[in-house]
Amino acid sequence: MNFQEISAIRQSCRNFDAKKQIEDEKIQAILASARLSPSACNGQPYFLTVCKGEKAKQVARATMGMGMNKFSLDAPVQIVISEMPYVKSAALGAKLKGNDYRSIDIGIVCAYITAAATELGVGSCILGWLDSAKIKDICDLDGEVRLVISLGYPNDNDKLREKNRKSLDKLAKIIE
Ligand SMILES: Cc1cc2nc3c(=O)[nH]c(=O)nc-3n(C[C@H](O)[C@H](O)[C@H](O)COP(=O)(O)O)c2cc1C
Repeated sequence: MNFQEISAIRQSCRNFDAKKQIEDEKIQAILASARLSPSACNGQPYFLTVCKGEKAKQVARATMGMGMNKFSLDAPVQIVISEMPYVKSAALGAKLKGNDYRSIDIGIVCAYITAAATELGVGSCILGWLDSAKIKDICDLDGEVRLVISLGYPNDNDKLREKNRKSLDKLAKIIE
């Protein structure tokens, strides 16, 4: 599958098959792609905690405040993305340029993870609605939790949805 194809079929899965586990080799392959993600000054200011079994359920519950993200309980794996300190050069750049490189880096690694999962036929949903304090406690983490990615196989009745996006002219312009 090339990147165009991955982009066309990746979508947020909110309909996981709770009975199907993800093979360990696939989890390793997804992490191997995540490891190659670019980041400001190559600082990689994040940590990935792969939660399975009861830990995955606990993390899912911590994304379910106010009735949100109930579907995540059916996902067999939750990848928790937490912050790590900046390397010195990225910290300096962020301060001097007023740019939040760490959040950008976390977004990129998240995109790598979801693209790698898609290539392997694994469904994913990025969750930003979460209780960082609870998840830090569950996973024994110091850094703030920024995103959780639910991973699992979609149910057979989960269909590819039409993409609802801005038109290209509203998204981008080309200038010379
Ligand atoms: C930073 C971020 C946070 C998100 N948080 C949630 C969430 O808490 N719950 C959810 O169901 N979807 C969440 N999403 C998924 C978006 O709703 C979804 O990507 C968007 O609507 C486009 O749909 P698609 O992923 O199916 O293409 C999040 C996506 C991103 C990038």
